[in-house]
Amino acid sequence: MKPFPLILESIKDLNKGQVQDVFKLAKSFKNGSEPEGIPFSSKEKDLKSNPHFTSKTPLIATFFQEPSTRTKNSFAIAAKRLKTDYVDLAPQFSSLKKGEDLEQTFITLKYQGVNLLICRSPLEKISSRVKIPKVAYINGGDGKNEHPTQALLDAFSILESGLDISKTTIALIGDVLHSRVAHSLMKLIPELGGKVVICGPSDWLPKGDLGPSIESVSSLEEAISRADILYPLRIQKERHKNTVQNEDYFIKHFKVSLKKLKEMDKKPLVFHAGPFNIGVEIDKDLLDSPLFQAYNQIENSIYIRMSIIQLMLQASRQS
Ligand code: CP
Repeated sequence: MKPFPLILESIKDLNKGQVQDVFKLAKSFKNGSEPEGIPFSSKEKDLKSNPHFTSKTPLIATFFQEPSTRTKNSFAIAAKRLKTDYVDLAPQFSSLKKGEDLEQTFITLKYQGVNLLICRSPLEKISSRVKIPKVAYINGGDGKNEHPTQALLDAFSILESGLDISKTTIALIGDVLHSRVAHSLMKLIPELGGKVVICGPSDWLPKGDLGPSIESVSSLEEAISRADILYPLRIQKERHKNTVQNEDYFIKHFKVSLKKLKEMDKKPLVFHAGPFNIGVEIDKDLLDSPLFQAYNQIENSIYIRMSIIQLMLQASRQS
């Protein structure tokens, strides 16, 4: 069996069996199982044997160069629930501000004893730009590229809702082109046998061959009529360069609302990665509806991230 990867940058870094392992362990955490002890003893020769340096307790660091409420905090909570040590390095107060580069920042963290580094960055595909020192690494969102742990917690939440992903169509609505969540889901859902429909203003839809399981549709009504799950996406204004979009036009044609679902007599589940821009991509009327799954996604993020951390640290211990 292929060991769990030590770099999780894309959802493609995991095979189907490893995705199932993440779900299985997350489910056991959700059912109340105690985390397995994950003492860590590095085999690296260049690490000193001083116990103040190479503690038996793994050390996890977050380094988020973009704002986050859900991802960073849920990794921090997951690390604490697993009884690991945890530090956060805030980029705006780091020596990046004094001209140090990312590679030296990561190397510094490694020599401070960090075993697992979790990063969010506007830079895409960091592992191909920066040599990651010998620490485990998780992408907590890189530009508009990917957000693999979000896609995993979404898929876990879909399964938990009782849907069979291989018979499920999920409609990603809105700013698909600039959404890293959408890009990870467009890989994971087809891998698990499901279908993806994308819908939004044409400037915000990826072009070209999207593969046999992904289809672009022209209207919100068509997406709603096809989907078991609707997944409105926040407009990623911070990543827009050349696309100008009238927000009123977007709201009129693509905002997902309970009123619209009632008019069409449809009851798809509604997922959202957050943060929500209420009144823009999603209407307030959905937030209190039993169709709305986003708060369950937030809860599940803890179990999924505990699971990923544990599987990665165990693989790291054995490497
Ligand atoms: N879903 C998500 O990435 O949210 P945050 O930006 O709050 O971390």
